[in-house]
Amino acid sequence: MLETLPIASWTGPYAPEMKARALAGLESGAVLFFPNLAFALAEKEKQFLDARVSDGKAKNISRDPSGKLQSTALTGKPAKDLAAMMARFADSTSSLITDLLPYRDVERARTSFRPVQVKGRSQSKISDDRLLHIDAFPSRPMRGRRILRFFANVAPASPRHWHVGQPFEDFARGFLPRIGPDLPGKSWLYEKLGVTRGRRSLYDEMMLSLHDTAKRDDSFQANSPHQKVDFPPQSCWLVFTDMVLHAALGGEFALEQTFHLDIDQMAEPNLAPIRVLERLSGRSLS
Ligand code: SIN
Ligand code: FE
Repeated sequence: MLETLPIASWTGPYAPEMKARALAGLESGAVLFFPNLAFALAEKEKQFLDARVSDGKAKNISRDPSGKLQSTALTGKPAKDLAAMMARFADSTSSLITDLLPYRDVERARTSFRPVQVKGRSQSKISDDRLLHIDAFPSRPMRGRRILRFFANVAPASPRHWHVGQPFEDFARGFLPRIGPDLPGKSWLYEKLGVTRGRRSLYDEMMLSLHDTAKRDDSFQANSPHQKVDFPPQSCWLVFTDMVLHAALGGEFALEQTFHLDIDQMAEPNLAPIRVLERLSGRSLS
């Protein structure tokens, strides 16, 4: 469930044996854990280790690939410096992924900074990431593409505490019979109304239903098999969050970089959630 890799540098070359373990682990649903890899903050960046950097509305501060910063209370020079720190994280994680994995066409999506203590944050069940879930976002249809996320715990002292759940196939097999019928025309309408960026496919509808149904199911949350993982300060981890059931229960100050990739980039596209769901449901989900 955890594949621990003793990498200590953001750039390769990495040993072939390390690269093979990374690829096999990642695609089969493990979390790649880098205990010796730290994303170091410059002295002046330590001012950002403060929940007041957030505007208090969104969970995370985000920087899109064009450099636009959202949901921070900072303005002027401090906002610029925060954006620069996030850009450096985006560059570092991109170079690590390029050197460690064989994927040649990876889209760099958003970077987030998570400055608010996870424990005690109040929100609706559906947006509560303290509940076990796979990632699926209402406004961002993936149409089968993968969501790969790189996390760094940049807190000075507190671990980031996660739960990691059962394999995707077991989870999907249990929930598929319960998820609702497709609403014809809804995806088309959402695209027209600008609710989604591009049209949701049947795959997106299924993934959203799995996400929501799992979060609403108190018995699943309490009783489904899961393991506790503490990611220590100064460590990093990388995971396909569209496949690995995860929940973040505690911790403050993390950075996260999202990447998207087509399943034909994978060594084993049959392991992708879209292929698993197609096999289980007996229909094409493209
Ligand atoms: C999530 O992706 O569900 C939250 C992970 C985290 O913030 O540690
Ligand atoms: Fe998540």
